[in-house]
Amino acid sequence: MRIIPVASGKGGVGKSLVAANLAIAFAQAGQRVVLADLDLGASNLHLVIGHQAPAKGIGTFLNDPKADFSKVIAKTDIPLLRFIPGDAEIPGMANLKASQRNALVKQFLALAPSTDILILDLGAGTHQSILDFFLLSGQGIIVSAPAVTATLNAYVFLKNTVFRLMYTVFSRGTAAQTYLERVRKTGSGPRRLYIPQMLKDIRRIDQKSYAKYFKVAGHFHPRLIMNLIENPQDVEVAQKIRRSCAEYLGLGIEHLGIIYRDMLQDTALASRLPIILYKPQAVLSQAIYRIADKILQSPEEQFDLDERELDDSFQEAALEAEIDFESKTEYVEDLLHSGALTQGDLLETVKSQQLEVAKLKKENNFLKLKISQAITQGFTP
Ligand SMILES: Nc1ncnc2c1ncn2[C@@H]1O[C@H](COP(=O)(O)OP(=O)(O)O)[C@@H](O)[C@H]1O
Ligand SMILES: [Mg+2]
Repeated sequence: MRIIPVASGKGGVGKSLVAANLAIAFAQAGQRVVLADLDLGASNLHLVIGHQAPAKGIGTFLNDPKADFSKVIAKTDIPLLRFIPGDAEIPGMANLKASQRNALVKQFLALAPSTDILILDLGAGTHQSILDFFLLSGQGIIVSAPAVTATLNAYVFLKNTVFRLMYTVFSRGTAAQTYLERVRKTGSGPRRLYIPQMLKDIRRIDQKSYAKYFKVAGHFHPRLIMNLIENPQDVEVAQKIRRSCAEYLGLGIEHLGIIYRDMLQDTALASRLPIILYKPQAVLSQAIYRIADKILQSPEEQFDLDERELDDSFQEAALEAEIDFESKTEYVEDLLHSGALTQGDLLETVKSQQLEVAKLKKENNFLKLKISQAITQGFTP
């Protein structure tokens, strides 16, 4: 069974669209597919595949460990495609306990005999659970877009996956793990999370852990899809992200393809049909078919979990704060250097954010005024 997690770091870049339409393309190609909505708390994948509002979903299962998992797997109108809805009972991935995540992983792996491809729509964010689901495969898909924030978020997500991978590869008590903990707590100079330097250090102090990481990371090749392309120059951003990943993360990502913004998607959505069923000839549908083909043609990488320790105790450690968006300036530097972001892009972003802030202030003042008027007119809130 191939597991294909689909992530982005940020919402609104087309993750669900890609996950759903790829799932259908695979099913049409004769693969037995399960599509799971792991965007817990904000699940809407059922809308994308035109499935009616689900009664039961992953949340139902997670809230009742004795529940029968097969009950949350729904048939769809599309032959060979089954669907696991999210549902709003779990208020998001951030609230997922390690034990719940493990229970879910176990159920997913148990699908293998009856499933050729399992697609996971991971939702937004870089929470540890999301990273762990992403790391179920060495070839997870990362969806991004040419907009600055989308590019930045894809890179931040990938950097977090590298950290997460280190944490799961280095066994507890090893010098490598102690080193990682120390860097996490105290930093190691101005560029404290510069991965190539960290790997050099680890190689020096703990050959064995380094070799282990090297072996696992050698099979870790996330695949990038650049969505919402507006013009041909946008295509280059993908290559630049790739260069930044190689240089700053020691990570070889594969460029899976680009997808243009397609106005037909709006009509497809309005008619509640996935675009590849609504209009197989649409530019967007054709892009999906191309990407699906490319995936089916490619050999599957071995990315064995047994090389890694999915030990709950150290996963409880608050590493999120560390690997989260706090060191964003550093990420910006990495991307600026490769040209994935330009100074112009950044200025543009800063300017639009300032406008945004000014607008909010104005709205805020307006509301304050309204409230004080209401109060002087005798209204008690
Ligand atoms: N290539 C595209 N062309 C046109 N619309 C798109 C394209 N990709 C995504 N969209 C639209 O953008 C919105 C966000 O997509 P969605 O898949 O829900 O993103 P995510 O799951 O990452 O939050 C949706 O309304 C979707 O229809
Ligand atoms: Mg989504």
